[in-house]
Amino acid sequence: MVCSDKVLRNRILTDRFSPIGQDGPVAKAVWAKAHANLALVKYWGKRDEEHNLPAVGSISLTLAPLATEVRVTQSQCDQILVNGSPVPQPAKKKLVRFLDFARSIAGTEVRLSVEVHTNFPVAAGLASSASTFAALAAALNKFLGLGLDPTRLSAVARRGSGSAARSIFGGFVEWIAGERPDGEDSVAVPIAPSDHWRLSVVIAVTNSQPKRVSSSDGMRLTQHSLFFTAWQKEQEADLTLARQAILRRDFHGLGEIAEHSALKMHALMMAARPALLYWEPATVAVLQRVQDLRRSGVAAYCSIDAGPQVKVLCQPPDQERVIVALSEIGSLSVLVAEPGPGVQVREVCP
Ligand code: DP6
Repeated sequence: MVCSDKVLRNRILTDRFSPIGQDGPVAKAVWAKAHANLALVKYWGKRDEEHNLPAVGSISLTLAPLATEVRVTQSQCDQILVNGSPVPQPAKKKLVRFLDFARSIAGTEVRLSVEVHTNFPVAAGLASSASTFAALAAALNKFLGLGLDPTRLSAVARRGSGSAARSIFGGFVEWIAGERPDGEDSVAVPIAPSDHWRLSVVIAVTNSQPKRVSSSDGMRLTQHSLFFTAWQKEQEADLTLARQAILRRDFHGLGEIAEHSALKMHALMMAARPALLYWEPATVAVLQRVQDLRRSGVAAYCSIDAGPQVKVLCQPPDQERVIVALSEIGSLSVLVAEPGPGVQVREVCP
């Protein structure tokens, strides 16, 4: 990779003056791992694009084993590989902007080599940006010696992707919308750890290709939807119901509000002009199959993020029946997830 003159100049400065405090990067190589999350009460819409501040609060469940691992080392110029390949635009721009943001906090222009490995389809509505930016935020925190605690780290991860703020923590997590223009109060907080409640999430992957419209673009396109004001107005009540259901381990209460939040978010996308529709025929088939399951007495509820995949929330004794029912639909593959831990980070050999 050829470095530009500006980058080479920065490199010379970096080499000579070690602008991160007095000591340069505090680690030679850092590894971090974060899991994806499923929004039980959805984030959709922004009140500020620059600081990536949400129009509403949200609640999620961190999901194992869906994870992203990143490895950060110093380099002559920024290099980013995702699953072994150079990352295409516009994802590259978003990642470099995030590196710049972390560097601005550290007061350095050090260039970085970033390797990203994700164990599930990327940019397909399975929260790969959440796990990627949570892992990257944690890795940069250690590599650049930012010294951020998990709450402040969640605000940094938020700048990469809003949902990444929640993936800093394991289990059930709330991302507080906050009110401040600088976003300092827009942080994630844990509600309950992953072992609070054994739940199962059966994921129907109906199309593993990257989606045509990113979440950020989708939010921009639908923020003037006819239903946006109603969406914002009801969110506090939905958050309260979800929080209570989680703390009481009330499965029907949580499933009902999660499915309602997801379908309401998609209704607002569909009511925008022009409409935004992320669904595939198999998405609808899964929704209908889960309704049939409920009629036959199986407690299962659907959630759909910005993509065509359906995540079916159920309890472990019902997991097998849900997997069989979804597998019968055809033209989809099934992944199984459970409550997962928060971000992990450590220094490794370069
Ligand atoms: C539908 O966090 O990917 O999954 O902040 O613009 O990067 P940006 O968006 P992103 O959006 C996630 C939207 C969602 C709902 C959710 O995760 O709460």
